[in-house]
Amino acid sequence: MIILGIETSCDETAISLIEAERDKLKTLSNIISSQVKLHARWGGVVPNLAAREHLKNIIPVLKTAFKKAGVKPSNIDLIATTQGPGLIPALLIGANAAKTLSYVWKKPLIGIHHIEGHIYANFIRVDPKFKIQNSKFPILCLVVSGGHTQLVLMKKHLDYKIIGQTLDDAVGEAFDKTARILGLGYPGGPAIAAYAAKWKSKNSKNKTIHNTLYKIHDTKLPRPMINSKDFNFSFSGLKTAVLYKVKKLKKLPVTDYELLVTGIAAEFQQAAIDVLISKTIKAAEKYNPKTIMLAGGVSANQELRKQLSEFIEKNLPSARYILPAISYSTDNAAMVAAAGYFRWREMPAARRKKALRNWQTLQADANLELA
Ligand code: KG4
Ligand code: ZN
Repeated sequence: MIILGIETSCDETAISLIEAERDKLKTLSNIISSQVKLHARWGGVVPNLAAREHLKNIIPVLKTAFKKAGVKPSNIDLIATTQGPGLIPALLIGANAAKTLSYVWKKPLIGIHHIEGHIYANFIRVDPKFKIQNSKFPILCLVVSGGHTQLVLMKKHLDYKIIGQTLDDAVGEAFDKTARILGLGYPGGPAIAAYAAKWKSKNSKNKTIHNTLYKIHDTKLPRPMINSKDFNFSFSGLKTAVLYKVKKLKKLPVTDYELLVTGIAAEFQQAAIDVLISKTIKAAEKYNPKTIMLAGGVSANQELRKQLSEFIEKNLPSARYILPAISYSTDNAAMVAAAGYFRWREMPAARRKKALRNWQTLQADANLELA
């Protein structure tokens, strides 16, 4: 079957067509129109500006997605759209487009939770050797995005138990806010990652200067809640610790401020990774998952991908580690179509029939819960 996916929950207008054949999901097209440059001027996403851009771009993106995939509207079997959570003005554009297309083309429509989409990005086949059977249940999924930080336990498809989550900021939000404090621009995640990599390479080349700076100014940051017994997270204190450190540094006669900022970026990234990994391993020791997955925009972080892999190999050798291709880590619509496929697969005939009329009832919901 062919599924059309639509995603407009934040600042990417994304449309994708995927083909599903006995649980093998192949991307036919995956078009993303990013608004990063527009929002960078404001240091973050402005909801009404995002909505305007979605409105402007959604039809051209739709046309490109069909052209690239080489299919016609009559070929598609299902429309899946992000229902929430997200910015309501932004969500409404995608939901309205999906409802209109469902009505006009007489195709069934399913609303998808954005995080469910991120999780199902792991089920898209990126290389011919990929086998869906590799992802055995129970699955423990570490969800790390701009709006969410959760540990989700899945005993079967579409079954989500949140066993831990952030009590304040999401980890992606902490990356973004820290980057702003350090003056590294928007979006913060890739900027921090790039500076952290620079620190690592400089560190090996020029260890002495580095270590002296490090010692004098002490870039060490806290690892919030790393020792708490639960599986919850907290990242707002980490960001505040960076703020205090920078304020202190600005008063000092530092010769190489840029180098110190680089050091703080690296230390912040490592602090966040340490907490994420420690909680994931702890949760895995309790719940014994057969598969550990990574999902959400922060899963594009190379250090997190690599270090989690090393920890799993060392501490949980029997668990399989699955992570989304980089191109499916941050927001996209292929992941929404993928989740749509699994929802459709589990639906009894009567509900599938009802999905033809979902255009009448589907509501975008900024605070939709994962269920
Ligand atoms: O999933 P996503 O694209 O949108 C939301 O659902 O929120 O995640 C966006 C978040 C942003 O906070 C961004 O800074 C972060 O993912 N991000 C990264 C990286 N790439 C994106 N964080 C760390 N390292 C990266 N390479
Ligand atoms: Zn996302």
